[in-house]
Amino acid sequence: MSGYSVVVADNLCNSSVEPLRRIEKLTGQPVTFYNIDLRDEPALENVFAQENFDGVIHFAGLKAVGDSVTNPLGYYDNNLLSTIVLCRVMARHNVKQLVFSSSATVYGIQASPKYVETMAMAPVNPYGHTKAMIEQILADLCMSDPTWRITALRYFNPIGAHPSGLIGEDPNGIPNNLFPFVMQVAVGKRPELIVFGNDYDTVDGTGVRDYIHVVDLALGHIAALEHDPEPGSYATYNLGSGSGSSVFEVVDAFKTASGRDIPYKVAPRRSGDLAIYYADPSKANRLLNWKTAKTLADACADGWKWQSQNPNGYAS
Ligand code: WQD
Repeated sequence: MSGYSVVVADNLCNSSVEPLRRIEKLTGQPVTFYNIDLRDEPALENVFAQENFDGVIHFAGLKAVGDSVTNPLGYYDNNLLSTIVLCRVMARHNVKQLVFSSSATVYGIQASPKYVETMAMAPVNPYGHTKAMIEQILADLCMSDPTWRITALRYFNPIGAHPSGLIGEDPNGIPNNLFPFVMQVAVGKRPELIVFGNDYDTVDGTGVRDYIHVVDLALGHIAALEHDPEPGSYATYNLGSGSGSSVFEVVDAFKTASGRDIPYKVAPRRSGDLAIYYADPSKANRLLNWKTAKTLADACADGWKWQSQNPNGYAS
């Protein structure tokens, strides 16, 4: 869509090749795919020997907070080692522009719920720790070799699907996150939503988050690539809308978009959850010339189109 030719390397531990095939259909462009684990340095070396890269967007990583608490070694091994191997191979091939998929979870508990990039990182779970450690590794790399140009994008809560309804979120097993769970209740795959707490000090007692449409998120990556920072620079940017929505507001918006009821039951708070946080996106607005354009209603409409056309995800 933005004129780039794309090469994907993925071990498919949490995805399949089907979305890549559908992207080829949507764009009319081939996607070169290597089914490798980024920790396999000889395999990654082979990819860089065969391809000629202008830059790399590093999305690969495990990302379920709950899983990271029960499997911290798996998260440190996968998320950190894959990044270290990737940077080592990039350096050998003099590919020095990197956009890294980081996360708002690096902030942890802050004095203000409006997160800004100047805040010190204070993650409170292993997943967030891996993202914060990787950001530190990348900052040190830039300090050591000023030919690197690295941008870390701190995602808030990605939701929605491509407007075509062809590609969308298809988590393995029981969804950890709110939006895919709501989609699966709406399509009848799950009987009800469990609302984790309605006794927070928020607009309606439920958790408040900054939900960002996945298409806006993707465009944020293009903006970061095209911003092409100064050599030796390491920069972080919040990718969020700048406002929050509660669990009940998400449920109501999805009911409107789908015309379906979303039965729910209120349960105790989920451990590790914060009441409210959302992005201050002004740095990305200003320096990347990027801001969200889609709304919660857009994300619910696109999410419902994806889920209703693919009730069993890509297996459909
Ligand atoms: C959102 C709100 C829950 C599920 C996650 C992870 C991480 C990061 C951002 C990338 C909270 C409530 C949820 C459910 C519920 N992604 N909820 N019932 O925890 O804000 O952040 O996404 O870095 O993956 O940190 O997202 O969707 O799990 O929760 O009531 O079945 O919905 O309590 O208030 P979270 P979430």
